[in-house]
Order: sequence, then C-alpha cells, then structure tokens
Amino acid sequence: MRPDPTQLIEAFRRAGQGQVFAFYDRLSPGAKARLVEEAAEIDLAEVDRLVRTLVAAGGPQPLDLKGLSPAPYERLPGRGGDSAQWAAAAAAGEAALRAGRVAAFTVAGGQGTRLGFDGPKGTFPVTPVRHRPLFQVFSEKLIAAERRYGRALHWFIMTSHQNHAATEGFFEDNGHFGLDRSRVHFFRQGRMPAVDFTGRILLDGQGSLALSPDGHGGSLRAMARSGGLDLMASEGIDTLSYFQVDNPLVRCVDPAFIGWHLLRGSEMSSKTIPKAYPEEKLGHFCLRRGRLEVIEYSDLPMDLQREKDPSSGALRYEAGSIAIHVIDREFIRRMARGAGELPFHRADKKVSTVDAAGCEVRPEKANGVKFELFVFDALPSARNPVVIETARADDFSPVKNAEGVDSPASCRADQLRQYARWLKSAGASLPTDSTGLPDFALEVSPLFGYDEGSFRESWSRLKPPPALAEGLVLENSGK
Ligand code: UTP
Repeated sequence: MRPDPTQLIEAFRRAGQGQVFAFYDRLSPGAKARLVEEAAEIDLAEVDRLVRTLVAAGGPQPLDLKGLSPAPYERLPGRGGDSAQWAAAAAAGEAALRAGRVAAFTVAGGQGTRLGFDGPKGTFPVTPVRHRPLFQVFSEKLIAAERRYGRALHWFIMTSHQNHAATEGFFEDNGHFGLDRSRVHFFRQGRMPAVDFTGRILLDGQGSLALSPDGHGGSLRAMARSGGLDLMASEGIDTLSYFQVDNPLVRCVDPAFIGWHLLRGSEMSSKTIPKAYPEEKLGHFCLRRGRLEVIEYSDLPMDLQREKDPSSGALRYEAGSIAIHVIDREFIRRMARGAGELPFHRADKKVSTVDAAGCEVRPEKANGVKFELFVFDALPSARNPVVIETARADDFSPVKNAEGVDSPASCRADQLRQYARWLKSAGASLPTDSTGLPDFALEVSPLFGYDEGSFRESWSRLKPPPALAEGLVLENSGK
C-alpha cells in the first residue's frame, strides 16, 4: 500500500522529526514520492528508542564486566588440541559437504569507507599477479569445493541498496566466474537513518534521507526476508558457512570447522586466532553472565587486554574474533523472528547532509551517528556455541585500510607467504625473507590449490614442475 503523505508528514512532525520534510514543497512530484517512500521505511519508534539509549547522555553505558572470563576454545592439534577430535570433525564436515547440506554466505553490503575504493569491495582486485577481484577468489574456492565434494554449493551474497545493482552487474559481466548462476543469490540488507548529535534524522539532499546499511548483523533478518531460508530448506541445506567480503585468505568452506559445529549441535560457531599483541583491533571471545559473547576492543578495558596468564605468559584474553562463522539455518529464522533481538551499536561518522537553507554540507569531522547491528551479537542466543582456533596464515588477512595494517599491500604479502609455504611443503625450494615472503611475486589459483593438501596434490601432478619465477601463475589443477 502506498503511504499517505499527509499522515506520514504529521507522524514525523509529532515525533520531532519534521525537518525531514523541510524542503518538501520545493520538490517535483517524482521527488516528493521518493522522499515519502524513503520516510515510510523508517520505524520512528525504533529511532526514538535508539536516540534515547545511544545518542542522548553521550552514548551507551559501559558494559558490566562483573564475572567476565575468557571463553574456552578448541585448540589446534599442534597447540594442545586433540588430533583425533579434529580428524572426526573434518570427517563430519566432509560428509555434510558431500550430502549438500552446506551453503556459503558472504556479507558484502559494507561501505568500505576506510579503503576508499570506488565500487563494491568484492570487485577490488586483490591477488598479487592476476589482480583478480575478491569475488573471483571466493568463486574459485567454491568451484574447488564442488570438485572435491561432488556438490555445487549455493552462495548467498548480501548487498546493500547502494551496491546491489553494481554487484549483480559485476557477476553478470564476468559470467559468474564459472559458477552456476542459478546458485548465486543476491539480496539486499536493510538500512537505517543517520541522526545528528541531537537525534534529528539527517537528510543527504533536499529530497532524500541519509540512509546507510544496518550493519552485518542485519544479514540475519535480511536473509530471512529474502526467502533464502526457505530455498535452503527445500534444497536440504541446514548449515551456512559465513565470511566477510574483504578477506581473500578465508577458507570459504572448512570441513573441520563445519564438523565441530555439527558434532557439538551448535547453532552458531566461530573461528578464533590468538591476538598478535594486546592493542590489536579484534573483538574478544568472552564468557559474560555464563554466555559466549564477543566484546569489542573498544569495550574491553586496556588493562584486561594486556593481562597475561601467569603460567603460560600468553594474553589472558587472547581469543580474537575474525568474523568467520558457521550458522544453523533455523537459528537464523529464530533470530529473525525477534528471539534474542540484536542490539544496535552507535558509530559516529561524517555524514554528508544539507543545511537549513538546503545547501550541501560535506563535514570535515563526524557530525552524525549511524546505527549498526553486529552478527556476533547473535552468539549469546545460540545453543552450544563452539569456538575453534585457526591459524591466522590460513584464514585471515582482510583488506580494510588503504595503507598499513590490513591493507591491499599487507594482504598481498600474506597471499604470497601462503603460496611460498605451500610450495615449500610440496618440496619446492624458493627464496624467501625471514617472514616467509618470497623474493618475487607469483600466484596460485584456488582451482590449483586452496590449502596445503590440495596444493601438494596438484603440484605432484606437474611433471616436470614449472620453473619458479616472477609472474608464475598456477591456474588449474590439471585434473
Ligand atoms: P566492516 O566493518 O569492515 O565495514 O565490514 P565496511 O563498511 O566494509 O568498511 P568501513 O568500515 O566503511 O571501512 C565487515 C564486513 O561486513 C560487511 C562488509 O561488507 C564486510 O564484509 N558489512 C558491513 C555489511 O555487509 N553490511 C554492513 O552494513 C556493514
């Protein structure tokens, strides 16, 4: 049903948000209709609640950390974990993959402001030699999994209003990178209005609201709204392998991880890496009020982040979150229906807007508040959540910033180090520096090898093996 403009404008005025329609009378009929449609998306009661709890009084209250402790996790076999249990988990995960119970799930609706790249982040050219985009890296990993387990995976990709068309168009233009297009599903996440520091909804033009994606936590309700859960149910898929669009090292489907999740009867599972240093900007897996939680680096006091275990000397809160999860389909449905509703978080950002005269304002510093949901906030509601350790070098090197830590350059180096490790484990010798970085750039397609074992298999089939030199690309397994 079309919203009634008069009633809507009145509702905004009564909620103290009348400024949204300050320029309404100047707009063309088409622009008026668009503004009314955007405004009708807004849940005024929700905005009012968020303004009261997160904006007024300078922000949310500090977390109550009484009884807080580090969360237990399953250590890797080489670090004290039980190798028989890991082997059983890998076998269970492989069986689930062969049975077609698993789909991939990527959140790609972020704005990528820190990277400053023009276009959806998944289209960013990330690999060292071929400059393949992130979406292609994941596509090739999924095709490799299909070859190994004999089942083509469905892939659910969450986009935003801003990047949906560009993302779909990119897959179209590239023939879906060899994937069966009927198994690639795009859906848009919800959006939320930005407000100023007094709680008034900001316009980003005279006839449009400053709306932004509702955070990666919006993926649960957006997935349910999209009909994806019903599609999965009809296809016999009950398990989702969740990862972020900016991390090309991620194992898109990891049998051992999936197996731990299934064998434990978990509704949501997570991977962890030990933090490299106390100030590293990762969330922490903790137990609070008896439940598993991720506490952000900004919310955990620095003295706790620095605390060491007296016997091992390791950081007490060492278990860092790297945003890789396995999630049960029906858990998403339950969460989307409102069980254990996720809390919104406040982020102060620069928001382009208009002044009282309707002129454009491009702020130099944060002038507004955005509201975001985080997917890890679902963990306390999950039954039997399990956290397993992974090696950073095998799973995590995100592209977040334009330079420095977690940048295209650091990610390129981590990809090169991974190829060099695989080559060495396959018996090849190549020159590297003390960090394992090879002296020249080469590239391994996931279709050739996506982990040490698959790489070794493909490498052993090359007779004779190719000369290792600048620009070498190992593209296909030759199977
Ligand atoms: P980040 O927290 O790194 O945010 O997202 P971002 O928007 O990509 O980058 P900045 O902060 O603007 O620089 C982590 C993952 O969550 C997804 C992103 O696409 C990325 O895969 N995400 C984030 C969404 O899908 N939707 C959102 O609303 C936010």
